[in-house]
Amino acid sequence: MTNAVIECILSRSAAKYYDPAVTLSDDQIRELVRIGTTAPTSFHLQNWRFIAVRTREAKARLSPIAWNQPAITDAAVTFIVCGQLVDTSVIPERLAPLVEAGVMPAAMVPEWENPARDLYMAYPQRRRDEAVRTATFGASAMIYAARSLGLGSTPMIGFDAEAVHREFGLAGDEVPVLLLSVGAERPGNWAQKPRRPLTDVLALV
Ligand SMILES: Cc1cc2nc3c(=O)[nH]c(=O)nc-3n(C[C@H](O)[C@H](O)[C@H](O)COP(=O)(O)O)c2cc1C
Repeated sequence: MTNAVIECILSRSAAKYYDPAVTLSDDQIRELVRIGTTAPTSFHLQNWRFIAVRTREAKARLSPIAWNQPAITDAAVTFIVCGQLVDTSVIPERLAPLVEAGVMPAAMVPEWENPARDLYMAYPQRRRDEAVRTATFGASAMIYAARSLGLGSTPMIGFDAEAVHREFGLAGDEVPVLLLSVGAERPGNWAQKPRRPLTDVLALV
């Protein structure tokens, strides 16, 4: 079973070494994020925000609060992928473009908003879990889009979340879920690592 998409998935690995001479234009960065935002989100909440750290000055602010990981300095861009704590009152506004486009009947909007409110709003852990899921789905789409364009990527949890929150002015409801560096790789990155056997991770029931 193979095709170009599967090949892209199978051949990805996390990059460590980037070519610092290769930059991405702001239009290329916008396109990566646009692709990322086509990922699925619960109730179409789209509770994410992406901060593209791509100038020398911004990288210098991020690097010391992200373990001085070389990817931040060398990769063209490092996204601070933020998830927003679920607030279901935004659902009518988020669904309005679907209604206008004729994708969803207007009467269905409360049928999404009401169960979503019951599912999340009294449960802080669920609101935060969804912020993490949302950001992760978005980052994942960007990782494979980058790979398909011949670019390397590195998801990173090695950073001081509180410091990143403060330094980059995140809102009170925003969680810096992960950093995602993207750029042209340079030689020396490890080959893809073997995985745990399927028998250990798959239950067929
Ligand atoms: C949530 C998450 C956090 C990670 N954090 C870091 C990090 O801070 N620094 C780093 O060099 N790699 C980081 N990685 C990369 C992992 O080490 C890597 O994905 C794993 O070893 C599997 O290798 P592969 O992605 O090349 O297949 C992270 C990966 C994930 C998914």
